Amino acid sequence: MKKMHLSLSTILFVFLAEFSSAQTIIRGPYLQSQGPNSIIIRWRTDSLTDSRVYYGSTIGSNTLFADSATPTTEHRVRLNGLTPLTKYFYSVGSATQTLRGNDPLLFFKTAPDSSSHTPVRFWVIGDFGHGSTPQKQVRDSYLQYVAQDNNPADFQLWVGDDAYTDGTDPQYQTNVFDTTNCYGNLFLNMPFVPTPGNHDWNSICNWQGPCNIDPNVQTGPYLNIVDPPIEGELGGVASHLKLFYSFDYGDIHFISLNSELGSTTPAYNWVGVFDNTTTFTSPMINWLRADLAATTKKWKVAFWHQCPYSGQDNFTELSSGQFFTFATRDHFNPNLEQYGVDLVLTGHDHNYQRSYLINGLYDFKAGFTPSMIVNGGNGDDAQGQAYIKYTNGPLAGKGTVYVVEGNSSEGNSYSPITHPVIYWGEACDTCYGSTIIDVNGDRLDEKYLSSRGVVMDHFTILKQAWTGIDEELITNSGFQVYPNPAVDEAEVKYSITRNCFVMMDLLGIDGRVIHSLFSGERQPGDYSDVLKLDKSGVSAGTYLIRLNCNGEVKYRKIVKMN
Ligand SMILES: [Fe+2]
Repeated sequence: MKKMHLSLSTILFVFLAEFSSAQTIIRGPYLQSQGPNSIIIRWRTDSLTDSRVYYGSTIGSNTLFADSATPTTEHRVRLNGLTPLTKYFYSVGSATQTLRGNDPLLFFKTAPDSSSHTPVRFWVIGDFGHGSTPQKQVRDSYLQYVAQDNNPADFQLWVGDDAYTDGTDPQYQTNVFDTTNCYGNLFLNMPFVPTPGNHDWNSICNWQGPCNIDPNVQTGPYLNIVDPPIEGELGGVASHLKLFYSFDYGDIHFISLNSELGSTTPAYNWVGVFDNTTTFTSPMINWLRADLAATTKKWKVAFWHQCPYSGQDNFTELSSGQFFTFATRDHFNPNLEQYGVDLVLTGHDHNYQRSYLINGLYDFKAGFTPSMIVNGGNGDDAQGQAYIKYTNGPLAGKGTVYVVEGNSSEGNSYSPITHPVIYWGEACDTCYGSTIIDVNGDRLDEKYLSSRGVVMDHFTILKQAWTGIDEELITNSGFQVYPNPAVDEAEVKYSITRNCFVMMDLLGIDGRVIHSLFSGERQPGDYSDVLKLDKSGVSAGTYLIRLNCNGEVKYRKIVKMN
């Protein structure tokens, strides 16, 4: 064997050239666990190196840093001691080399202080992980929408099926972190808040397997990629597991549940699939109850993957075999509603749907009764139909709106969406979209934004103190309907004692608005409006006339006869 003799300088040159040229970022950077005083920055390199993040108020020349000396390709650096609601620029690399920095796209904004009432915007996507053109269109429609008022979301919120088909690491790379059709560039400055779907769980514990791995020790790509706050460090009760978790963001308490934790082994069946008993419990349900009991936040938002209510193709009925959807309805919803959760975000059915303000349906459609509709209007504040969540009184905390946002790259063919608790939905071969939610003080606004850039649905929830219905803005004795029963029309008389915005609607006994009879400002006085009963949709039966005067609501029954 011929010996080679290399000088020390040659060896050093080769070593440095090899060391520096081999280090390339192949994922990220991306942001996790965004808090008021801390954040986690993650990235992946193609070779082992230590980790360092420089951060500060300027692009490219910051001296503050946090680091880790352990050589790794999966870099994870937590920044602490940050100031709430502050924009920081950052760079990533090693102690000796900046791999990405001096870049206006590399920044993050810390969360508001927990006592702050700062407006919050978040962007909800579900069933999105294809790396496809529809996914790009949904992303771009969001970007165009938020560019209108230069108000990007504080974070992206996932409702599962993040990476089709099996949630493998390469599928996350091409269907989530890719920059062309996915979110790779957005993640440089927008954290994502994750929950998994059944497709993601295929690489962790596939139900079809069936899943018989203790959730306490489950591992896999989704769990390796996400880095949520699981120790209660951002508020909420510690779950100690990435499977489910909670955190506070301003006035909002967020709860990420896991609808995929089903098993034929009872001890591992944490979601309660095939168990519709009201006494079912599990480590996840016990944690959920403790977490709900502990939070004092004004707003409560829960999210998971498998929707409890769907009006398309009986998706959440027994005939569908979607047992995990039933399990969430049986075991999540009663707890969430008991503690006044305002909004539930899910996916799984490949459409957009959303409910009225409801309470108490933990069964199939056959178990529905009209009393479960807390507010059967459309939720449009401009029409005086915002959903009111009372903060005290007999209706304190009652009512939840359920949203299915499962078409951020997947779609169902058209078929009618009918379910007694669903107000509206959209599904067709080319119907894709996402949901944008704004929370500001006592007000929550939801918008469903199609991939075509059109807001197709919206609703508002308002937090209000209960003032009772005894205040005589509308005099009880003056609210009369005659004749009653009636055939073609009836006269509605009422008196108003001071100026107010009056809305009068005809409702089915299930609370659905059938016709709007009047809407407008009125002075104090006596009024008489004609109620036409010979309109479409008004067949023989019992109805309600709802009179709303600046939020004070009174009802009269009317019977329509043939
Ligand atoms: Fe799914």
